[in-house]
This record gives sequence, C-alpha cells and structure tokens, in this order.
Amino acid sequence: MKTLKIFLGWLIGGLLVIQLIRIDVPEPPKADPQDEIKAPGEITALLKRSCYDCHSNHTRWPWYSHVAPVSWEVNSHVKNGRNWLNFSIWNRYSEEKKQKLYKGIVKSIDWKMPPADYMWIHKNARLSPEERQKIKAWAQSHIREEEKPY
Ligand code: HEC
Repeated sequence: MKTLKIFLGWLIGGLLVIQLIRIDVPEPPKADPQDEIKAPGEITALLKRSCYDCHSNHTRWPWYSHVAPVSWEVNSHVKNGRNWLNFSIWNRYSEEKKQKLYKGIVKSIDWKMPPADYMWIHKNARLSPEERQKIKAWAQSHIREEEKPY
C-alpha cells in the first residue's frame, strides 16, 4: 500500500513537472484559400474527416492535445504530417511533387494512413474499405499514364 502511494505520488508529480516542458506548437505555413486542394465533394469530405488534422492548416486541437506527453506526440504528428503533405498548400506544389503524393496516397491508404494510434482516439476518422477505395481511385485517376501501374 505504501509503495503504491509513493509510486502514485511520483507519477502525478512527474506528470505535473513535464507540463512545464514547452514545445513549439507548429505555426502553419501561410496559405491562400486558392492553394487548397480541389477534389470532388465526397473526397474532400473524407480528406477533411480523416486526414486534415495532420495534413492541412485546419488542425483541430482537442484539450488533451495540450497536455504532455500527449502534446508531444500530437505536435510531432502535425509537424511531420504537414511537412510531408499539406492539402492547404496543394496548389503551390510542383506537378512532380503532386505526382509523388498521389502515388504516396495510393500506397498508404490501405493500411498506413491515417495512423492507427490516431484512429484509436478519433473514431470518426476511421475509414471503411469502400471509403478507402474511393480515395484510392481518386488519387489513381490523377497519376499520369507513364507513371502507372499504381
Ligand atoms: C495523426 C496524424 C495523421 C493523419 C490523421 C494522417 N496522416 Fe498521413 N502522415 C502523417 C505523418 C506523421 C506522416 C509522415 C511520414 C510517416 O510518419 O510515415 C504522414 C505521411 C503521409 C504521406 C506520405 C508518406 C509516403 O509514404 O509517401 C501520405 C501520402 C499521407 N500521409 C496521406 C494521408 C492521408 C490520405 C490521410 C487521410 C486518409 C492521412 N495521411 C492521415 C500523419 C498523419
């Protein structure tokens, strides 16, 4: 019993202390509404629901995303996610980069994206097999002939 109390004391103390460690909340890159990706309405809705928290400037920040150590994970997801692919600055990407990303979407949509730990908390971000197929077909339709098969 005593050991448990000591353990809990350290645990709570530790959690309080790590709140003092400041992390830089990533500042989104400047974007014009024109730069946003244009996709059919259904696809846009799916991307907003399942990808936008990490791959756009429109991240929703729930309260726990400010609490360490969750905040560290969330920030690194958002920072990395936006670096790789940001739908809010899509129209500023070169054609080369877009091709690379369309292929990346086709490759990652079956299992890698959205990340499992994220979907575990954000149940509404989960995609059904049909929804994944829709996103895949949309991305595929933008890949140039000479780059296929993808
Ligand atoms: C919780 C944050 C998060 C969400 C939600 C998310 N991603 Fe990602 N995504 C990342 C991170 C972080 C990376 C950086 C590379 C990595 O970690 O593998 C990434 C990388 C990517 C890449 C580039 C990887 C490659 O191999 O080319 C693509 C494409 C991608 N995501 C597509 C999507 C799509 C499409 C969705 C929605 C269906 C989505 N992501 C949802 C965090 C996220």
